[in-house]
Amino acid sequence: LRHIPLFEDLEDQELEQISKAIQVRTYEKNKLILLEEDLGDTLFIISQGAVKISRINEDGKEVILSILSDGEFFGEMSILDGESRSANVVALEKSEVFMLKRQDFLEMLEKYPKISIHLLEELARRLRRSDQQIESLSLSDAEHRVANTIIRLAEDLGVHLKGCVTINDIPLQQDIANMAGTSRETVSRMLKMLENKGLITREGRKLIINNYMEFYRNFSK
Ligand code: CMP
Repeated sequence: LRHIPLFEDLEDQELEQISKAIQVRTYEKNKLILLEEDLGDTLFIISQGAVKISRINEDGKEVILSILSDGEFFGEMSILDGESRSANVVALEKSEVFMLKRQDFLEMLEKYPKISIHLLEELARRLRRSDQQIESLSLSDAEHRVANTIIRLAEDLGVHLKGCVTINDIPLQQDIANMAGTSRETVSRMLKMLENKGLITREGRKLIINNYMEFYRNFSK
């Protein structure tokens, strides 16, 4: 629990209290964890693994809103506003989650205000990202949107080292397309182009952004 940002300011004794309310569960790769429009009263925290958050649009196409990994939480929206689940959540790899019931979580927020501050910080960060995503989807061409999606993946899943960022298990091209609002063919073409320009290197499921600062400067908008 110590490594979960939501709980990072708590004392050992407080963490112990919290751990009593937590249930642990493992989901295999590709398993559905939450279904859009279901009712829900559980908060999930990823102790290890990664999930994708997505919705199905009117044409039946999947739109990926975000990818969350170790230490991040989901399922808080229904808990806070009492509405049904706002999106589908699927395990991208075998993932272990901590589960907290609504009532226990709400009591914790009252008892430990530091958790509330971390929760609000993260919600602000997600809103900021959604704003950027709206801008990117409405303003940029498909090529920029793909590069922009690579930046989002680098921020979510990347390992930063000496100016390079390595994404070890890059999502499928169809998933990248669903994040960028474009076709798999455009993603494939764009990745080849970035590779030919020397901006990225690909080795199997690994994608390396060779100079992240430069890449970010060129494509973050
Ligand atoms: P909830 O609505 O309970 O169930 C689906 C969850 O997906 C939601 O809570 C959030 O935790 C998560 N979610 C929905 N939209 C986004 C987003 N844009 N970015 C990150 N997570 C999201």
